[in-house]
Amino acid sequence: MGVLRRYKELLPVTPSTPDVNLEEGSTPLIPLPRVGAGLGIRLYGKFEGCNPSGSFKDRGMVLAVAKALEEGKRALICASTGNTSASAAAYAASVGVPCFVLLPAGKVAMGKLTQALMYGATVIAVRGNFDRALELARAAAESGTMGLAMVNSVNPYRLIGQRTGAWEVCEALGRAPDWHAIPVGNAGNISAYWAGYQEYHRLGKIEKAPRMMGFQAAGAAPLVTGKPCPNPETVATAIRIGNPVSAHLARAAVQESGGEFNAVTDEEILNAQRLLASEGGVFAEPASCAPLAGLVKLREQGKLPEGITVTMVLTGNGLKDPDTALSGLEKSGRAKPIEIGDTEEELKRVLEGRRG
Ligand code: F0G
Repeated sequence: MGVLRRYKELLPVTPSTPDVNLEEGSTPLIPLPRVGAGLGIRLYGKFEGCNPSGSFKDRGMVLAVAKALEEGKRALICASTGNTSASAAAYAASVGVPCFVLLPAGKVAMGKLTQALMYGATVIAVRGNFDRALELARAAAESGTMGLAMVNSVNPYRLIGQRTGAWEVCEALGRAPDWHAIPVGNAGNISAYWAGYQEYHRLGKIEKAPRMMGFQAAGAAPLVTGKPCPNPETVATAIRIGNPVSAHLARAAVQESGGEFNAVTDEEILNAQRLLASEGGVFAEPASCAPLAGLVKLREQGKLPEGITVTMVLTGNGLKDPDTALSGLEKSGRAKPIEIGDTEEELKRVLEGRRG
């Protein structure tokens, strides 16, 4: 069941809202006992890579597209670091409307670019960063021509739909976590999760809301430094954003929940990506691993309370960006298979650890 049906009582869905559905949501909350034991906590990953377009964006996109159709819009437009464009293009394809996506040229993971092209969107590579692409997309939508619906997270329905992630976490755990750890780029998702937890608290479904812990890449950390970052740079291209549109909402979420923003380096992100895969069995994209990198760091600094329950949002699938993952493996010399001839002797040498 997609999120519009699963949560129809809590979402602004009316009888005239078209039934858009790619069976998004209902993603697994995966226990990570080995990784958690190393950190002294009970750790879970909400694996959003299981969504139809491979990221959390589908939860909000389904509602944004349904409402755009309800309002008579005729096409979609967005700027994206990759995942929003893949999601928008997927829903546009499923309902049969044109989709225009603006990407920072050369800075989008190959899997995401391939998705947008395959779903049939018009893909426009802007020679500029994401923040500039967003301004261009916004201006095009605001000009009112062509009945364009802007489906970035400035679209309020996106953030409303993304609340469903928090609701699913509460349902899976039977309570809210103590800490909710989440990567922060344009700052929409942390705001959406916080709104979701608050709503469940108001409805009496949870006793208390978690501390919201936001993690940014050190080269693109405007919420940590407190000022926009004109030239954001990080291997976690999904969160390569210098001037987040929902910064005010994200700050409020962290403040109200008693949480924090922290920055992690690219190296820490890639280490965390390998840790999650090799000790958790979950392959998530680099941006999704910023929270784990942050938890590792907080543990080292003695700032991670023993025994607490922590959920991390693993926002996107690792398969979207194999190049970056492999670059992270290079140091350990494990970025390539061990090639052998076709003899039993050669295989035996590998199995016995005499090669490799
Ligand atoms: N993780 C992934 C995998 C993302 O794609 C994004 C954002 C984030 C985290 C950060 O979420 O922006 O709500 O704070 N990606 C956007 C995009 C910007 O265009 O796909 P946020």
